[in-house]
Amino acid sequence: MRKNFGHWPAKSIDRRTFLLAAGAAFAHAQVSRADEPSETSLRQRAEKKGLVFGTQVNAGPLFSLKPYRDAVLRDAAMIVPENEMKWRPTQPAARQFNYFNADRIASFAEGNALLLRGHTAVWHQNPPAWTKDLISSGDGQKLVLDHARELIEHFRGRVMEWDVVNEAIAPEDGMPDNLRNWAPYSKGGISFIADCFHAAREADPNANLYYNDYSVYYQNQDQRRDAILGFLEKLKSKGAPIGGFGIQSHLIAKAEFNEVAYRRFLSEVADLGLKIRATELDVSDVRLGPDIELRDTIVAAHTKQYLDVLFDEPAVVGLVTWGMTDRFSWLHEGWPRKDRLRQRCLPLDENFAKKPMWYAIADALDHAPSR
Ligand code: G3I
Repeated sequence: MRKNFGHWPAKSIDRRTFLLAAGAAFAHAQVSRADEPSETSLRQRAEKKGLVFGTQVNAGPLFSLKPYRDAVLRDAAMIVPENEMKWRPTQPAARQFNYFNADRIASFAEGNALLLRGHTAVWHQNPPAWTKDLISSGDGQKLVLDHARELIEHFRGRVMEWDVVNEAIAPEDGMPDNLRNWAPYSKGGISFIADCFHAAREADPNANLYYNDYSVYYQNQDQRRDAILGFLEKLKSKGAPIGGFGIQSHLIAKAEFNEVAYRRFLSEVADLGLKIRATELDVSDVRLGPDIELRDTIVAAHTKQYLDVLFDEPAVVGLVTWGMTDRFSWLHEGWPRKDRLRQRCLPLDENFAKKPMWYAIADALDHAPSR
């Protein structure tokens, strides 16, 4: 995900959003009466439907802040490290590996019987500084492939599912097959991306292998939907061992959800024989005013509207949020509000109390068709 969000739509609140928000507030009022320690967790609600609820974790708070750890353990059946498995931290200098934090997270998952997602082996945005010139040289593709193989091999048998390749599609770059203008892709094309999947398969024969990307649910994203579908089709036809498509789901409250196009998109991905997981759900409130109650209500309504459509697709296997609490979100720095207030973008507030967004996820899970 890039920090330039200019391609996302700007719209003021309309009648439909207002009604959805009012509905979500009502649902919240209904569910929150049961807000007590015994309240059914998101994890249990998902399991009841044959889905998996998970969250992204960051080693810092995970190993130093008990309420954060408790929140993760209460609600999540799956975790994914926010940054700890990326190339920059795991190989800060050539042939010098540092898996300390990633290994700690993997052990935490094992010790608590949590499923572990790996994020991410191949991503244009995270190569360490020492690779800068090498990547655009003749050896660039080999460097990326070796990295993917070594990383995935290190965690062989411990990671259930890998984002093998992340964010390779950028129609605005004007490259063949809508690939991003990044040297390994512009030189190797989709065949290179297929090679990444083969390398991942060799490195861990049992992991589920995903392609992960963003922005396929709003009104003005037809081009991205088409580009990603065409790309997945070609990748499969080249025999790449891909098993799933991860939809990041960095939503924006007040953006115009295209329910019809999104339903169709999901079913077309499913027709390719791929599983689908929402992998990085959060909801930016940058387009909303400062009122906390209204922000929380609209964020919850947007979440519910999105998840209801997502869960209707039988190929969807679960949902991962990009964090559990507003205390830790990339959005605070990645996309700050103009009024400098902190965003209210995740299921729990800064003090780990459940917000309407938590109840919106609970409600969507409760109403999801069983798998
Ligand atoms: O580790 C350095 C630290 O040494 C230094 O002091 C500090 C100063 O700013 O920076 C630290 O690195 C930061 C890193 O997160 C770890 O905190 C980077 O500046 C910062 O850019 C990086 O941001 C992460 C971003 O990916 C880029 O890797 C965000 O935390 C993370 O939430 C975000 O996650 C991405 C997904 O991987 C892919 N999809 C989009 C999503 C949001 O952008």
